[in-house]
Amino acid sequence: MDIASLIKSRLNETYALHRRYVNPQLVRVLEVIGYNRNYTGAGGTRLLDEQGREVLDFLAGFGVFNIGRNHPLVARVLKDVIDMSSASMVQMDVGILAGLLAEALAKAAPEGLEAVFFTNSGTEGVEGAIKMARQATGKSKVIYCDRAFHGLTLGALSVNGNKEFRERNEPLLPNCVNIPFNDLKALEKELSLEDAAAFIVEPIQGKGVFVPTPEYLPEAQRLCERHGTLLIADEVQTGLGRTGRMFAVEHWNVTPDLLVVSKSLSGGYIPVGAVVTKRDIHAKVFDSMDRCFAHSNTFGQNDLAMAAGLATLQVIEQEDLVQRSAVMGAYLEKGLRKLARRYEMVHEIRARGLMIGIQFGKPASLSLKTGWNLLHKMNEDLFCQMITMPLLEKHQILTQVAGHGLDTVKILPPLTIDRSDIDHFLEALDNVLMDAHKFPGSTWKTVKNLGLRTARTA
Ligand SMILES: Cc1ncc(COP(=O)(O)O)c(C=O)c1O
Repeated sequence: MDIASLIKSRLNETYALHRRYVNPQLVRVLEVIGYNRNYTGAGGTRLLDEQGREVLDFLAGFGVFNIGRNHPLVARVLKDVIDMSSASMVQMDVGILAGLLAEALAKAAPEGLEAVFFTNSGTEGVEGAIKMARQATGKSKVIYCDRAFHGLTLGALSVNGNKEFRERNEPLLPNCVNIPFNDLKALEKELSLEDAAAFIVEPIQGKGVFVPTPEYLPEAQRLCERHGTLLIADEVQTGLGRTGRMFAVEHWNVTPDLLVVSKSLSGGYIPVGAVVTKRDIHAKVFDSMDRCFAHSNTFGQNDLAMAAGLATLQVIEQEDLVQRSAVMGAYLEKGLRKLARRYEMVHEIRARGLMIGIQFGKPASLSLKTGWNLLHKMNEDLFCQMITMPLLEKHQILTQVAGHGLDTVKILPPLTIDRSDIDHFLEALDNVLMDAHKFPGSTWKTVKNLGLRTARTA
């Protein structure tokens, strides 16, 4: 099989194939917002589409490409492992690469977290963490936050704080309790019932990029400890340098009981994830030889994922990407705050490192308010398309809307971006914001038509 020729000969069928065999609704969405670019290559911070246009990737595969796309070191290591014909997944044995990656993760994680369980995804890590917390405490309740996103398998969905994902799936796991994010009183009230196995939280919430107040996580940790509840930090998105620290919990000197990692751990090449926990918690789950597979999976420790994880951690260290994320994040945040002062619909910039939310809100001036109300009446998710669509169409920058009904654009670039990428982004955003602040205008018209189209074809 010549895979390059196969791709080349059938590239023009991409959307037809997905419409027919995969997810036709996604294809429709991509078509109406003009995101159907048919990308053919990528490297570092750039994507290349079939028309040869270079796109600056400020989405990074939902945070998978912290080290940039197709990093040569990870690629070389993966090729080396394939060439070695390694003895992957023997199952009734353990492999050196999983041992080495576990050791590296334990070194990278907050002190005291040193027992590792490997997974194939973020959601699987969350499932594992919940199971471990239940088994280790003998309790069943799991406390989670409004707007939380921990993945979409049924257990993780049971602790998802967004109704659009939960609906049509209920009843979900019993005994999962929702509280507002950043609300210690609500947390204490639930914990004081002494029946909670775990409190699961994203240190910074991905849907909307909500950063807690400084006391929240340290106090949550203290309360959990006092009430015999384990703290699960879901760092699937915030981990591995994204927020300017190796793990976001470090901003607040918090050591959770269980830490979930995934997304960029393999440099974006291969599904991989891990739950990193304390030895005594792990030992309560795997507490006899009979129970050595008390929680397990088939692919978790596969050699390619483990090697990619090792190479990725090395890249993060060698290229000083954690520090780079902090420095570039601060530079980008400063530029965004400057822009926010000039545009009345930009209400807030929420940022840590290179995880940034641009919050839009109702304008004060009369004409813009008319446009704002009109769009929101049509569809509460439309407004941000007015920012993300022209960013791609006119400026070749890929970004995303941060979640349903939030009016937030999210910026999640590879940690390898440089100042000129940021300057280019800020210039483009300035231009897009200028257009968006003219009502009536062509940008409003485009998005209104999009709203009409979507409503007609729903
Ligand atoms: C914080 C968080 N947890 C869990 C998940 C689920 O990860 P996956 O899509 O790999 O299942 C995500 C994915 O976006 C996430 O952002």
